[in-house]
Amino acid sequence: MQFSLLEIESMSLKHEAVSQQNLTRLPTFRLFPYSCRYCVYWESTKNFDEKVPQSEAEKLKSEWFKNTLERFGSCGFIVCRNCDSVGYAQFGLPKFFPRVSEYSSGPPSDDAVFLSCLYVPKRELRGMGIGKCMLEIVESDLLRRGYKAVETFARKGSESSPAGPLEFYLKHGFSVKRERDEFPLVRKELGRR
Ligand SMILES: CC(C)(COP(=O)(O)OP(=O)(O)OC[C@H]1O[C@@H](n2cnc3c(N)ncnc32)[C@H](O)[C@@H]1OP(=O)(O)O)[C@@H](O)C(=O)NCCC(=O)NCCS
Repeated sequence: MQFSLLEIESMSLKHEAVSQQNLTRLPTFRLFPYSCRYCVYWESTKNFDEKVPQSEAEKLKSEWFKNTLERFGSCGFIVCRNCDSVGYAQFGLPKFFPRVSEYSSGPPSDDAVFLSCLYVPKRELRGMGIGKCMLEIVESDLLRRGYKAVETFARKGSESSPAGPLEFYLKHGFSVKRERDEFPLVRKELGRR
């Protein structure tokens, strides 16, 4: 497990790679099934509103991490303030996320890593630079591992989506690759500002 310290607006934050051992520390913030810990939206193609039972969701999430860690390597991290999980990022090759097939602006490219989630659950902690910092961590990790691009579905006109709003990504060097509906596929070549 890797730790490093981020200093944002005098908050001391650590980021911690997700492993089989710390899955219980994924953010929980609202009722099941919307917490990151129990959310299997990307890991399955079941109707999200059908509500997979909690134990089944935990099992699926755990199996997803086991498989993706083995085949891809580090694929998520938690940002912690003291013992509180205040940010979460999850990513991997598009083939690890069956839900991508449902997006009209897809598919994500085979040469890109797909960012499935970038989230700061607490509203009062948004707009302070945590999201930008998480994106930089994802990008530098993937660049170091030899990947050439990162892609995600960002949302137009609302921030309510797994990766967040389009404006956030346009501000951080992404451009729209394909747009068929309110969830355009955006892409950034790694190593470019
Ligand atoms: C999108 C998100 C990850 C961004 O993280 P954040 O910590 O709030 O963003 P930052 O403070 O790092 O912002 C970086 C830049 O992006 C911009 N930005 C952030 N959120 C934005 C938004 N909603 N609309 C437009 N710009 C935005 C900021 O203004 C800032 O620009 P600046 O550097 O010029 O000041 C976070 O706001 C979030 O999780 N939102 C909720 C998304 C959601 O509902 N997800 C559902 C998950 S299931």
